[in-house]
Amino acid sequence: MKKILDVLTSEFENAFEKCGYDKKLGKVGISNRPDLCEYQCNGAMAGAKLYKKAPIMIANDVVEQLKDNKLFDSIEAVMPGFINIKLSADYIDEYVSNMNDDERLGYEKKEPITVIVDYGGANVAKPLHVGHLRPAIIGESVKRICRYAGDTVYGDVHLGDWGLPIGQVIEELRDRQPELPYFDENFTGEYPTEPPFSINELEDIYPTGSGKCKVDEEFKKRAQDTTAKLQQGNKAYMALWRHIMNVSKADLKKNYKNLNVEFDLWKGESDAQPYIPDMIDDFVARGFAHESQGALVVDVARPDDKKELPPCIVRKHDGAALYATSDLATLIEREKDYHPGHVIYVVDKRQELHFTQVFRVAKMTGIVGEDTPLTFIGFGTMNGTDGKPFKTRDGGVMRLEMLISDVSEKVYEKILENRDISEEEAREISKIIGLAAIKYGDLSNQATKDYVFDIDRFTSFEGNTGPYILYTIVRIKSILKKYAEQGNELSANGKIVDFGSESERSLKLVLTQFNDVMEASYNELAPHRVCAYIYEVANAFNRFYHENNIMNEENADKQKSYINLLTLTKKVLEQCIDLLAIDAPERM
Ligand code: ARG
Repeated sequence: MKKILDVLTSEFENAFEKCGYDKKLGKVGISNRPDLCEYQCNGAMAGAKLYKKAPIMIANDVVEQLKDNKLFDSIEAVMPGFINIKLSADYIDEYVSNMNDDERLGYEKKEPITVIVDYGGANVAKPLHVGHLRPAIIGESVKRICRYAGDTVYGDVHLGDWGLPIGQVIEELRDRQPELPYFDENFTGEYPTEPPFSINELEDIYPTGSGKCKVDEEFKKRAQDTTAKLQQGNKAYMALWRHIMNVSKADLKKNYKNLNVEFDLWKGESDAQPYIPDMIDDFVARGFAHESQGALVVDVARPDDKKELPPCIVRKHDGAALYATSDLATLIEREKDYHPGHVIYVVDKRQELHFTQVFRVAKMTGIVGEDTPLTFIGFGTMNGTDGKPFKTRDGGVMRLEMLISDVSEKVYEKILENRDISEEEAREISKIIGLAAIKYGDLSNQATKDYVFDIDRFTSFEGNTGPYILYTIVRIKSILKKYAEQGNELSANGKIVDFGSESERSLKLVLTQFNDVMEASYNELAPHRVCAYIYEVANAFNRFYHENNIMNEENADKQKSYINLLTLTKKVLEQCIDLLAIDAPERM
């Protein structure tokens, strides 16, 4: 369905043209004075200069053209030359009824492209901690927004699964279990298929190893040598690496699944390694890379940069590849496998310099075509209520699992306080609401901004929170259920008509903005747009609900229309929370 703004704008463009003015003046926007009107057109103001005429005269001409138009309930020119518009109730009803009748609620699919969303960014052998929360939930939402718009989207976790951390794990394992065949240079048999550690052991091995590296030169040297041997394909170390991968991936999959975050691709830095040697040779051969203090670098600075950009190092003096090398090689692999029309990275904003460098090298060397956008969504830090990066009570890094269970626990207490439901159901529901509280608390902020993770505020059932939104959905579900239980037929797409209440009209008006909001959230890759919208819908619905006694409405036609309006509201809210990867319980 056409967006209302487009419908209005095209009517206005015609009117301006018919009056002998430039049609470009006919742009209509949502009113910034909702107390006066719903939409407005300010084209006459701009026209005044063009035609050397008082703006009000132009506005009057246009209004005269449009005054009998069925789209409007009222349209008036006001000083100094604004045009205020109120839509006709019939048109609003037609619009929302059509939405209700459409599987996509009136939001048309766009011309599809292939998109890769690189998010998550977990590292093997390490548990997910709170720092992994933002990339997971923002990335998941961006992926869903693109998919809903019609694109073919691949979410890629892009694991940190190569390099020194692996050498550290292997060396720490050697210290703990020197008798393992992987460490016997004379071993000639098949290496065991069972991993020599559990996930819990692995999660202890890694930090111990990386800790030793910082204080023990000898250990560090061993870890570096082992990493180098691994990178040259050493059989024993490759076998251990595969064990690390399997054990760690299984655990990461479980944890992401708990967050309702699902990746299409479980690729990682290791997958890009085979592309590196040819890539480097090519950079050198074509003169993009040159030696600098023993390292190989690509200059990326441009004369118009505000701050001079350091060159991108693609090979260290000891021959080792770096983070940037691996991201560039990953782009080569992605081009080959998916030829994406857009690659989006959801990564901590402190990595901005890295991505600026990588994007510039990718563009200038032609790894990625000129017209393929590479977008970096750099998210801000999640702070505690003290304004400092979020930590456990004793100052440590908090595991994601812990955070989720703390929040569910908080919700659980609230639910049990005043409801008589079984403990089991309360647990189940708290988990759903807890996740919604966390995700909504995060996504309702613009991604680039830092925000305060405030458990008390996020789990509140009032205000702009996940629980409030879910509560609204559950309320609608329960009304619809009661209505059906009274023997009424519940239509999935019934007509919506006008019964003249102000709150009814406001709710409908908010609903008509659905496809504008969907399009904007796609264009800006902005989940916070979706959040702001759901909050508006929820508020409009709750006002409507409090002002109308829907269940006891005696006029059956009115009741039916209201029920249809509720059905549409529910569909819109459910679609929106799905874009945020939030679920709603049946009751709460
Ligand atoms: N594993 C990285 C880290 O922990 C994040 C990966 C982000 N994605 C990328 N393509 N570099 O910092």
